[in-house]
Amino acid sequence: MTKITWKPGTLEYPLPPAMISCGTIEHPNIMTAAWTGIVNSEPPMTYVSIRPSRYSHGIIKESGEFVINLTTEQLVAAADFCGVKSGKDVNKFKEMKLTAGQCSEISAPQIVESPVSLECKVKDISSLGSHDMFLAEIVAVNVDDKYIDATGKLRLEDCNLVAYAHNAYYSLGRCLGFFGFSVCRNAMKINQRMKNVVVEVKTPKIKLEDHKSPQRHNGFKSRRKSSNPMRKKAFSSTGKLARHERKHQSRSK
Ligand SMILES: Cc1cc2nc3c(=O)[nH]c(=O)nc-3n(C[C@H](O)[C@H](O)[C@H](O)COP(=O)(O)O)c2cc1C
Repeated sequence: MTKITWKPGTLEYPLPPAMISCGTIEHPNIMTAAWTGIVNSEPPMTYVSIRPSRYSHGIIKESGEFVINLTTEQLVAAADFCGVKSGKDVNKFKEMKLTAGQCSEISAPQIVESPVSLECKVKDISSLGSHDMFLAEIVAVNVDDKYIDATGKLRLEDCNLVAYAHNAYYSLGRCLGFFGFSVCRNAMKINQRMKNVVVEVKTPKIKLEDHKSPQRHNGFKSRRKSSNPMRKKAFSSTGKLARHERKHQSRSK
């Protein structure tokens, strides 16, 4: 394999084509931003980088609030429109037949048609050059209850979220594994049981050291108990990561 070295650029994909709503219920605006992401877990924090020339820039700088609305396949044309038209010239909520909904912690409106909307309060603004980065705390999350199942779990996989890569929008496609599957000995069987999953992993890439003498439980081979108390309940018999492990891993991200 030969790689060609180019001059520095922003070629990191995929990104979310997030719909950033701001302003007020009476005077709402939306801009699309791909330069956004999570930067901290506790407290949950995010950023959005916005060129000072955007109409939304002044609104967010003034109010210190914005909402990140996740974009679905149903919303992708609206997201593109909100990314090429300015609120200086058009009412994008009206043009795209979107609804500005009340948030719980901030005055900025959320997009009702988006399945997940993150309410954000600006903590800091850094001028980086072409863009100003708004660092913000996520103060509330609004989720469409139609995607919450009987056990209270958010079925994000049913929302048809889209990704943005190299000037184009994509649907997410098939699931290739769950968090930690590369070290889970039951990955293949678990994958088979997951909805819409095409099994590609034949064996775990990394072997756990205590893999000898597997015991059978519910038809699955379960791992022998580890001598390391921290790893003991890392995977349940169904191969799912135990709650404390998930918490630990999300903390260490
Ligand atoms: C997919 C996509 C991603 C975009 N990402 C950003 C971004 O991260 N930051 C930014 O300043 N503009 C971004 N834009 C451009 C703005 O969304 C666009 O200039 C928009 O018209 C600004 O709206 P406003 O003037 O109403 O604020 C993006 C546009 C598209 C289509």
